[in-house]
Formats: sequence, structure tokens, C-alpha cells
Amino acid sequence: MSDSADAPPPRPPRRKRYGGKNPQRYDEKYKEHRGDAETLAKVVASGKTAAGTHRPIMVEEILRTLKPQNGQSALDATLGFGGHTEALLGRLLPGGRLVGLDADARQLPLTVDRLRLAGFTEPAFQAVRSNFAGAPKVLATLGWEGVDMVLADLGVSSMQIDNPARGFSYKHDGPLDMRMNPERGQTAGQLLKSVSVRKLAQILEENADEPNADRLAEGLAGGEYLSTSALKHRVVHLLGSEPAEAALPRVFQALRIAVNEEFTALETLLRALPEILRPKGRVAILTFHSGEDRRVKKAFQAGLAAGVYNAVATDVTRASAAEIFHNPRASSAKLRWAVRR
Ligand SMILES: C[S@@+](CC[C@H](N)C(=O)[O-])C[C@H]1O[C@@H](n2cnc3c(N)ncnc32)[C@H](O)[C@@H]1O
Repeated sequence: MSDSADAPPPRPPRRKRYGGKNPQRYDEKYKEHRGDAETLAKVVASGKTAAGTHRPIMVEEILRTLKPQNGQSALDATLGFGGHTEALLGRLLPGGRLVGLDADARQLPLTVDRLRLAGFTEPAFQAVRSNFAGAPKVLATLGWEGVDMVLADLGVSSMQIDNPARGFSYKHDGPLDMRMNPERGQTAGQLLKSVSVRKLAQILEENADEPNADRLAEGLAGGEYLSTSALKHRVVHLLGSEPAEAALPRVFQALRIAVNEEFTALETLLRALPEILRPKGRVAILTFHSGEDRRVKKAFQAGLAAGVYNAVATDVTRASAAEIFHNPRASSAKLRWAVRR
């Protein structure tokens, strides 16, 4: 008998040790990461988002807006976990095709694996790691002459924000990173260390309407913050704990937008849309704060006035109360659309 036949069967990996009845830390939630059906159902029923997943927002409203049909083509500019892509492909197939873009080099392969396992194969579904500012180039490389619809669901996904290692949230301790593509560019910590007081005040004001922008910039610019907790404690020290509670989401949002140059990317995509969309093509954009919505509204209205678009949303569509109840992250979402002439 060979050695390997004598060897005891390999043991399943031990679960991580955690205090209490249920795991609290993101990396301890091994059943959620593994996709355990019973655990996922419990988490979703409690109104939370399972670790390592993202719940797509306003799916029905987006399908009603984009009207995907068999045989049409689509660009999902922000693939994320792929929830919207799955819903779109469900209507585009058979005969249609979709390309999904995401700037996140870590998350993208996981989503591609998930969607391939769900049965979405090439060439109907393709994914490219790219900033959506480069969408025209991606389509040209694929040899696609425009698409019938574009979806952009802006900001970060739950997988990114809930993962302490990505440094997006003041609610978890982690490195002060915030890069959507962790393989490129400067981290939020590096930005804070090198930024001037004036520039930081501008970032806080323009990216998050922060009322204490000057005071915060004075106390934060040039400092060395290696972790999300270090920055959080400094904000609490500068403003006091109650005002800091309201300021923290704004400070983190403003830095994230600056680190990822999100407004520049959005403006570039908005300028490229008329070129990307085929005649009568539709675009839907989900925004999560006023700086994004203002830019989308302005670009769509200018396009309507210039005759580039036939029709644009006159107002925003919001998530239903039922959706917000089950997924509080939908509460700040605003949907706008436009139809190419
Ligand atoms: C809100 S999530 C999208 C979730 C997705 N709709 C779903 O159903 O799972 C936003 C995603 O867009 C990506 N993203 C944000 N800005 C981007 C940009 N300028 N270019 C490419 N991807 C971007 C983020 O990395 C993130 O994965």
C-alpha cells in the first residue's frame, strides 16, 4: 500500500475563532463568504448585506428605464458584484451581449468567476478591468460600434465598503487606503500627508458639503494617518464626539472621491455617452450624493437642449420604502435617465 493511502484524509479547515455566538468581524464571517444559503437568507432577512456580496439597488426601476430586449447590447459601467448585470442579461439573452467594466482589480475576478458559474459565458458576457472614463476605448477594442444601453451605479460596493482591508469606512479599523483599484494611485493616507490646508478644505467642501471644512482641513492636512481609526479619532478630537458623528461620513466620502478622482471620471463618461449610445439608446445612472446628481442632471439637460437626447428624466426616481426597509443603502440612491436621439 502506498504512503498516500495510509495517510488520514485531510481535515476540513478549522473555522476562525471568534467571541460570542456569531462572527462580528468581516473576515470571520466565513459562512457568508462561502455563500452558505441558510446564512445568506438569514442575513438578508435581517435587512443586512452578507459579507462579500452587494445587493443591487432599484433593479425593477432600472429595467423599466433601460427596457432591455433579446438581442440588444449593453454596457454596465460599474459591474461590482454583478447584480444589475445578471438582471440585464436575463432580458438581453438570447442573442444579446453585455460588457461590464470595473476599476477594482481585486473584486473584478471574483465577480467574473461568480457570473461564469451562474452560466454567463463569453461572448454574451465580457468583463474588462477599466475605469469607465475609458469606456469608448474598451468598446473600440472589442469592436463594438456603440451599445443600446448604459448603466452606471456610482460609488463603491458593499464588498468594498464592508471590507476593513480596503479602508473605505470609519466603522471598521483598517489601513487608510480607499483606492478602488488598490494596484494604482495614492492612498487616502498618502493624500492627507501631502495635501495643503487649502486644497483639503476645497476637497471637503466640494466633495461632501462639509460645513467644518476649514477647521478640519487645518487640523488634518499634513498629518500621518495610517489607519481609518487614527483618522476617526483625530476628527473626534477636532470637532468633539457629537459633531464628529455627522462629519465622519462626509470626511470619508470626500477623501474617497478625491483619491479615486470620481468627479473627473463621471464627467468624462457623461461627455462620452452620446458617442457610446446607439440611436434611441438609453442610459440610466444611479447616484448617491448631490455632487454626482448635479453633474448627471446638468449633462442630460445640456444634451436635451443640444438635441443629442430625445428625452431626459425631469426628476429623480427614488427607491421604494419597501426596498429601503430591506436595504438601507438604497435610501440615498437617485436614478436619472436619458434617451439618445
Ligand atoms: C455601487 S457598485 C456597483 C454594484 C453593481 N451595480 C452590482 O449590482 O453589484 C460600484 C462599482 O463601480 C466601481 N467603480 C466606481 N467608479 C468607477 C469608475 N470610475 N470606473 C470603473 N469602475 C468604477 C466600483 O469599483 C464598484 O465595484
